[in-house]
Formats: sequence, C-alpha cells, structure tokens
Amino acid sequence: MTSAGRTGHARNGAAARKRGYQNSMRFSKIMAFTMAGAAFTALAQPARPQAADTLSISVAADRNGPTINRHIFGQFAEHLGSGIYGGIWVGKESRIPNVRGIRSDVVAALKAIQVPNVRWPGGCFADEYHWRDGIGPAAKRAVRVNTNWGGAAEPNTFGTDEFMDFVQQVGTEAYVSVNMGSGTIEEAADWVAYMTADASSTAGKERAANGHAKPYKVKFLGLGNESWGCGGSMRPDHYVDLMKRFARFTHNFNPAQQEGDDVMQRIAVGPNDNDGSYTEAVMKAWKDHDWAWDIQGLSLHSYTTDGWPPHLPSTGFDETDYAKLIRATLKIDGIIAEHSAIMDRYDPEKKVALVIDEWGAWLAPLPGTDPGFLVQQNSLRDGILAALNINIFARHADRVRMTNIAQMINVLQAMILTDKEKMVLTPTYHVYKMYVPFQDATFVPVSFDAGSFVQGDISLPRVDAIAARAKDGKLWLAMVNVDPRRPANVRVRFDGVTVKAAQGEVLTAPSVASINEFTAPDVVAPRPLAGRVDAGGVTFELPSKSVVVVQIDS
Ligand code: AHR
Repeated sequence: MTSAGRTGHARNGAAARKRGYQNSMRFSKIMAFTMAGAAFTALAQPARPQAADTLSISVAADRNGPTINRHIFGQFAEHLGSGIYGGIWVGKESRIPNVRGIRSDVVAALKAIQVPNVRWPGGCFADEYHWRDGIGPAAKRAVRVNTNWGGAAEPNTFGTDEFMDFVQQVGTEAYVSVNMGSGTIEEAADWVAYMTADASSTAGKERAANGHAKPYKVKFLGLGNESWGCGGSMRPDHYVDLMKRFARFTHNFNPAQQEGDDVMQRIAVGPNDNDGSYTEAVMKAWKDHDWAWDIQGLSLHSYTTDGWPPHLPSTGFDETDYAKLIRATLKIDGIIAEHSAIMDRYDPEKKVALVIDEWGAWLAPLPGTDPGFLVQQNSLRDGILAALNINIFARHADRVRMTNIAQMINVLQAMILTDKEKMVLTPTYHVYKMYVPFQDATFVPVSFDAGSFVQGDISLPRVDAIAARAKDGKLWLAMVNVDPRRPANVRVRFDGVTVKAAQGEVLTAPSVASINEFTAPDVVAPRPLAGRVDAGGVTFELPSKSVVVVQIDS
C-alpha cells in the first residue's frame, strides 16, 4: 500500500467535511451561543473549584412527551483499526477468555449497558465489503486490503456468522449495511437471503452448512453508507434511483419478521452535517413511493470536531479546547432541526425516522498510533459531550428514533478500549450505563434557565437537563454541569408529584481531561449522589464538570 493510499480516505474525507463545516456556519445563528471578547489563559491543571450558586429546574412530571426510543443508544462497529480484530474478535485459540473467538469481557461490558443495536460492517468499509469473503471455513477466507483504513490486511475471519454470534451473545439487534458502492443489487439480495431464509431454500441451506440452521434476525438494513462521499460520490438523484432498487430487492425471508414490530427497517443514506441535498432528494422520492419500495429511516452523519482534519487532542488538553469541543457538539441540535424541518414537509406524520448512525467526537489521532486507525483517548470531556448529545436526541425523540455513536471499541469516541488481554471502560461508557433507564422511557418536559459558562470568547449554556418516565413508571432526571470550575446548586421543582427521595449517580473527575487507563481504570467512574428533599422539591449539588442521573421517588 502506498502512503498516498494509506491516507487517501482521511484526505478526501477532510475536503468533503470541510465543505460541510463551512456550510454549517450558515446555521450558526440558530444556536443559542453568545460570543464575548475576553482573552483566556489556558490551564492544563485541574481547576480550583469555585463557589456554587443556585439554578432552578422545573419538571412537568404530570405531562408526557414522545418515547425516547432505546435505539438512540445504538453502537457502531466497523472493520477499522482494532475495532473488530482485538476489540471483539480474538480467535477461538486465544488465551484471552472468549466464546467461539469473541472476547467475553467485552460482551459482559456491553450487556451491562443494554446495547440496543450494533451497526456493522461499516462505515466506508461497508461499500467495499463483499460478504462471501467472510463465510465458510476460516482458512479458506479471502484476505483483502482495507483500503479505507490504513491499508491493513483484512483476514475476513470475522464475517456474517461471527457478527451474528456476537449480536446474540450481547443480546442486541443487528444493523447490517449493504454494499451499494462497489457491490451489486444481486450481491446484497443474496446476503440478506443468506442471513434470513429458512433452511428449505438454497440460501438457508448454505447458512445451515456453515453452522446456523435458524434464520438470523436482521432488524435494520442500511442501504449504502455516505453515498455522497466514500460510498461512491453519487449525486442525490442517482443515489435515490439506485436506492429504490436496493430497497425493492433486498427481501428479508425470516418467518418471524414478516409482520409486527420485528419487520426489517430499511435506512437510506441521508445528509452529511447540514447539507440538505440528500434529505430533500430522498424524502421527495419517499413521499411519492409506491408499493414496490419503502424506507423507514434516513441516515444523518455528524461528527464533533473543531474543523477538518480534526486537530484537537484527546489527552492533556486545556479548558479552551474543552469549550471549543462542547461548542462544536451543540451544533447538532440545529443540524437536527434543519433536517427535521425538511422531513416534516414530506412526512408530517413522522413515519421516517432520522437515524444519526454516525456521531461523536473525532479528535486528532493519539501520538504514536497509525492515523488510519482513528485511535483516540476518551476523557471526562467525552462523557459530558455524550450526555449533551443524548439530551439533544431525547428532545428530538419524535423524529430521532435511532443513533449510533462512532465507534464502539478502540475507534473514535469509544465505549471500551482494549490492548491484548487488557480492557478499560471509558467515561462515555459510564454515561451510557447511567442513562439505561432512559431507554424506551417517556419524555417528560423540563424547563430551566441554563445559566452560562464563559471561556474566553466562548459562552455556552452551563447546565442541561432532561427527564423521563421509565417503562416501570419511575421518574428519572439527568443533569449536566458543563462548567469545569463552578459547582451548581440546582433547585428542582416537580409538578404533579410529591417527592420522597432522589438518588442516583454522578460522573466527575479532577479535570475535564481526566481519563481511565489500564493501570488506573476508575479515575472517571460513577459515584453515588443524593438530593436534599424538602416540601418544595429537591436540591442537588452538581459538582463542576459532571453528569448526574437520579431516580425520583414519589
Ligand atoms: O467512523 C469512521 C468513518 O467516518 C466511517 O467509516 C465513515 O462512514 C465516516 O466518514
């Protein structure tokens, strides 16, 4: 592989993303940010805490909003760096504890956060993936070059049957992206048949011969990936014409998926950040669709960066870099609003979900790692960023019904980092665990004065909050204190309930740049936190730079 090939994706992606970033500036006025003029001296040291002051939140516990779909907490695992090989797959002969080659520590950690779905095999990788390379006897599988990601050898030892085994071990749903870039409709149709047909057909027999007689469940099917970029640089109209045929001919034959909630959902490629051209083209076509094809989701990709190529470091950063990244991530609220408005014009009943199947912090590669492997550390900052994004998704829950953070293990904003037999859970993982009660909960409106956190010329909302009623009827409140220095006393009033107790967990650490490492895995870990209850409500002391999730007993 030439060095040009090894970095090609990053360069091309950077150019495309830069255009998107420039476009995004047009929308900056919808964001509630104010800019002041003062200069700031950066501090790499943990900030000295400052005095708390009181903010108020009002929870309309007697009112209900939409369901916060559990699929908002979805994951993404691409054949990229050690996202699959090393992160999930260690091989049956490995000394690392595994079940049929899939590492057991990772499976246990993922079960604990109740991962609702995993998107696979990519990403850009998906549009060059030929599924037949990854089935059958391991020794006979094709070895290819992973052209998108570092020119690494792709041994195809983790293929369809291994992915489905992983899905079943974790207890999650499969979100499979078919190859619309370099693959054919026939190839995609055959793949879905291989996965879903019963053993009375040739496709099902082939799967049975590979060890799995029962059809797999494919809950979500992605029709291409970033077809505006690495997926083939297609004009929106060209993509739409092709997508209709992929949607028409990819039949799911699983007898258990023919009706009801388990029917397979097809997700079309949609926008990059705030470029609305794919949103317009796909939704316009969908409005006029006939019986022959349909989609249930439109994908949006929106990464948090401070420009392309990403240059903010994932370790040792100061509070100015922290503020820049938080400012960047909050833009997703306006991006969702823009695409939702377009979708509302064609789909006022909100039948088609906006599926944000790639999002998260994209930072500079960790020094000493292959830039093509997208390795970055994960700090308290990333945990705070994750919580802010989940809150935004919850506030758009009527349209945003699925998201996939990029990526699950060892790549970009990961849940889990591994190195051979070692594994560590990141701050982002802990946020996902704390938010489990919000999966399929009913959104409860909250109102509050966010206050502000000012860092040099950047001014951001200081506090954020959402509330929801879980499936078991319990009320939950999530709060974020973005300010890296000032704790916040938060006085919460609840309409319609008399509170008896409020307890849960807080995630914080000495610095926004604090990280968990293999040798120090609990620097950023949740600790218990309770509120002070009185006749008028509950008061919480939110530490500076913290995420708090509490259950409200009434
Ligand atoms: O997540 C890394 C890459 O980002 C994905 O492969 C691609 O879809 C996007 O550009």
